[in-house]
Order: sequence, then C-alpha cells, then structure tokens
Amino acid sequence: MTQAAARYSAVSLTLHWVIAALVVGQVLLISAVDAEGPNARTWAMLHKADGMMILLLTLVRIGWRVKHPAIPLPAETPRWQAVIARTTHVLFYVVLLAMPLSGWIASSAMGRDIVMYGLFNWPLLPVDGGRAVAGPLMDIHRALAKSLYILILLHLAGALKHYFIDRNNVLQRMLPFLRARA
Ligand code: HEM
Ligand code: HEM
Repeated sequence: MTQAAARYSAVSLTLHWVIAALVVGQVLLISAVDAEGPNARTWAMLHKADGMMILLLTLVRIGWRVKHPAIPLPAETPRWQAVIARTTHVLFYVVLLAMPLSGWIASSAMGRDIVMYGLFNWPLLPVDGGRAVAGPLMDIHRALAKSLYILILLHLAGALKHYFIDRNNVLQRMLPFLRARA
C-alpha cells in the first residue's frame, strides 16, 4: 500500500474518535459539575459512567493495537519528532487507564456508587479508607488531567503540523473524509 492510500481500519478509526469525543466530553462534563447548576449531579454521574466506558474502550483499543500496528510515519520524519509522537501516544494510553482507575478506586474508598447511565451500578472495588485514600487519589486524578491537556496540545500540534507544514497524509489516515494528497 502506498503512503497516500494508507488508512487506519474502521475499528481503529472508530475507537480513536469515540474515545477522543468521550475525553473532550469528560472535560466539559466536569466543568458543568464545577458550575454547580441544577443538573450538576447528572453531569457528575455521566462523568463517572463515561470514564468507565473510556477504561473499557482503551483496553479494547490496546488489544486491537497489539494485533494491528500503527502505520509507520513518513520515512523523512526526523527521529526526534517520531520519538515525541510515540511517547505522546504511549502516555495517552497510560493516562486513559490511570484516570478512570483513580476515579474508580476513589469512589470505592468513599463508598460512592458509580451509576452507569441510570441502568446499573458499576461494581465498586473492595477498598475502604474513606477520604484518607480518596483524597490523594483525586489529587492524582487532577494532576493527570493537567498532563492530559499537555498531551492533547502536543497531539493537536503534531496533527496540524503534518497537514499544514509537512503537507503529508498522516492526518488524512485518521480523518478519511479529508482527501489524501497524491
Ligand atoms: C483529545 C482526544 C484524542 C486522543 C486521546 C487521541 C489519542 C490518540 C492515540 C493514542 C493515537 C495513537 C494510536 C496508536 O498508534 O496507538 C492517536 C493517533 C492519531 N491521532 Fe489522535 N487523539 C485525540 C484527538 C485527535 C485529534 C483532535 C486529531 C486531529 C486533529 C487526532 C489525530 C490523530 C492522528 C492523525 C493519529 C495517527 C498518527 C499516526 O498515524 O502516526 N487525534 N491519537
Ligand atoms: C479517562 C477518564 C477520565 C477523565 C479524562 C477525567 C477527567 C477529569 C477532569 C479533567 C477533572 C477535573 C480536574 C480538575 O478539577 O482539575 C476530573 C475530576 C473528577 N473526576 Fe474525572 N475523569 C475521568 C474518569 C473519572 C472516573 C471514572 C471517575 C469516578 C468513577 C471520576 C471522578 C471524578 C471526580 C469525582 C472529579 C472531581 C474532583 C474534584 O473534586 O475536583 N473521573 N476528571
């Protein structure tokens, strides 16, 4: 397959964009919680449920990725840029596992239910310790949120650089409705 024709599979594309949308949604939902409006409890419930969905989808995605390696970057990509891209991707996976896990363990320690869209309760872990355990975990959750913002900025900057400066087809293979360059 030529570089121009290379595309991610429908499964890779769906997982990338569904998780990306959920991640952006997480930030919007928690801002809505912080605004303390009348629906704050619903937004908090959705933040937790979507967070657990991100955990599941990220595990599926890592499993898929092991069997379906990423398309190589164009051969002319400088090594340092390839290293940043790869590091960003690995750290995304780490953060997208660690954020829901910290939230899940903290909710468990507090004995607070994780209600999945009003349908059923996600099982809590056998952890207690209340605030003494949940507090530091939520500190980690907030610190991870900051690293997530940095990763998103780096990732966006890379995607836009490929498209507008390098003028290659790296963005098109993740956004198939954009026409690939010949
Ligand atoms: C904010 C949510 C996002 C997350 C968590 C995310 C995460 C990821 C991850 C983990 C990969 C690596 C896939 C792998 O090889 O294992 C990836 C690839 C990619 N992402 Fe994102 N992404 C997000 C948003 C975006 C956006 C907004 C764009 C475009 C503007 C984008 C464009 C791409 C492209 C082009 C690739 C493929 C890079 C390559 O083939 O080397 N992503 N993304
Ligand atoms: C990948 C999944 C997740 C992402 C991206 C995410 C993101 C965030 C962000 C950006 C914040 C705001 C941090 C700040 O104020 O600086 C936050 C707060 C919070 N998250 Fe998550 N979250 C995720 C999963 C979860 C899960 C699964 C739970 C619980 C089961 C959870 C519970 C909370 C709670 C309770 C807060 C409020 C903390 C506070 O008092 O400031 N999160 N999350």
